[in-house]
Amino acid sequence: MIKIDLTAALPFCSAADFTNESLRASKALKTLTEGTGAGSDFLGWVKPSKYLQISELTMINEVAEELSHNIDVVVVIGIGGSYLGAKAVIEALSHSYHSLLPQRKHPIVLFAGHQMSQDYLWELLEMMQHYSCACVVISKSGTTTEPALAFRLIKKHIEEKYGAELAKKRIVAITDATKGALRGLAEQEGYRTFVIPNDIGGRFSVFTPVGLLPMAIAGVDVPMLINGVIEQEGMSLCNDPDNPSIQYAAIRNALHKKGKLIEILANFEPKLHYVTEWWKQLYGESEGKEGIGIFPAGVDFTTDLHSMGQYIQDGPRFLMETVLSVAKPKQNVVINSQADDLDGLNYLVGKNIDFCNKMAEKGTIMAHVDGGVPNIHIQIPVLDARSIGALLYFFEVACGISGYMLGVNPFDQPGVEAYKKNMFALLRKGTS
Ligand code: PA5
Repeated sequence: MIKIDLTAALPFCSAADFTNESLRASKALKTLTEGTGAGSDFLGWVKPSKYLQISELTMINEVAEELSHNIDVVVVIGIGGSYLGAKAVIEALSHSYHSLLPQRKHPIVLFAGHQMSQDYLWELLEMMQHYSCACVVISKSGTTTEPALAFRLIKKHIEEKYGAELAKKRIVAITDATKGALRGLAEQEGYRTFVIPNDIGGRFSVFTPVGLLPMAIAGVDVPMLINGVIEQEGMSLCNDPDNPSIQYAAIRNALHKKGKLIEILANFEPKLHYVTEWWKQLYGESEGKEGIGIFPAGVDFTTDLHSMGQYIQDGPRFLMETVLSVAKPKQNVVINSQADDLDGLNYLVGKNIDFCNKMAEKGTIMAHVDGGVPNIHIQIPVLDARSIGALLYFFEVACGISGYMLGVNPFDQPGVEAYKKNMFALLRKGTS
């Protein structure tokens, strides 16, 4: 389902280099599947066919249906891995104007706790006064400041609006089975809860309740998404040179050794913007440590061809580009003829918009390769739940492989603590 084309990347490294990196990728995959590398206590996500339980999926579906009944807005509170997976999939698969459609089958899913903007929270709470609302609060550690603050305010709002007892039916918590403040709070208040498995870290948790409950609330076809994940599991865990996760990890490491320090993930479909954000977290937090790591950046084309295009074409040559392409759009929009042809577009009459987009994609790849930017092409057949499930899982496995190839522990994030330490000191945490 995931097609990877390295034709426009291989000329930037020798065949011997690529073969060598493919062998290293193969070994890294073995380390990952056998659990013999660093961070091996965080490999629960590797085999979704093992950890995904029908009973839990049924429960997710039931809670999602309940939270959809007579509820206009569900606020999902979380940050990092407790937010980006759900956001990515919901944006990728929803109608771009879902919230403006006159008839909606599913609640509008909004996010909070992914930053600490005072104005954002004020405006969210103001808006919530006018709608029937519920909330899903997600934190693996149960102690992260941003979501904890947002939850304190949203909990108060829901309790004041519906009363303490009914509020409990409108709040669901997703957290560790035993540890953290959120677990204690949820148990004391009697909220429904889902567990984030111990051995699955935040950025690898999209196929646990962390991602699946918000997706189900937004109307994503979760069973189909899981089908895509399980199908891809067979392909991405297979120690075969054609395995796209092995190929992707191998080529980015081969190019990195040739001085390509930054990888830009480019899409030609705006619905994929948050897939890029999710990918940035996955690769940035997994690989960027000990002075090592390929810097993950993202662009939305053709929009950013009119801003970042100049730099990519002509700036310092330390870039590689990965184009994330959707073979077939869901809708068809054909270009109409115009008698006067004042805009000069009649040469496109009868073609559709996607034809123009695809020609822009081809032309961009040719130009960037000519400009010295190697291109990795990753294609999914269509933007649906099955493909997106497969795509995210493909990236997860490739990330584990690539992290081991770089020689880091892809499953920890010690660097994230530095800002917290300073912030807590400045906030004088623990002094009152
Ligand atoms: O990947 C990670 O582990 C992080 O990005 C976490 O998901 C993020 O910091 C949020 O943590 P928590 O779910 O504990 O609130």
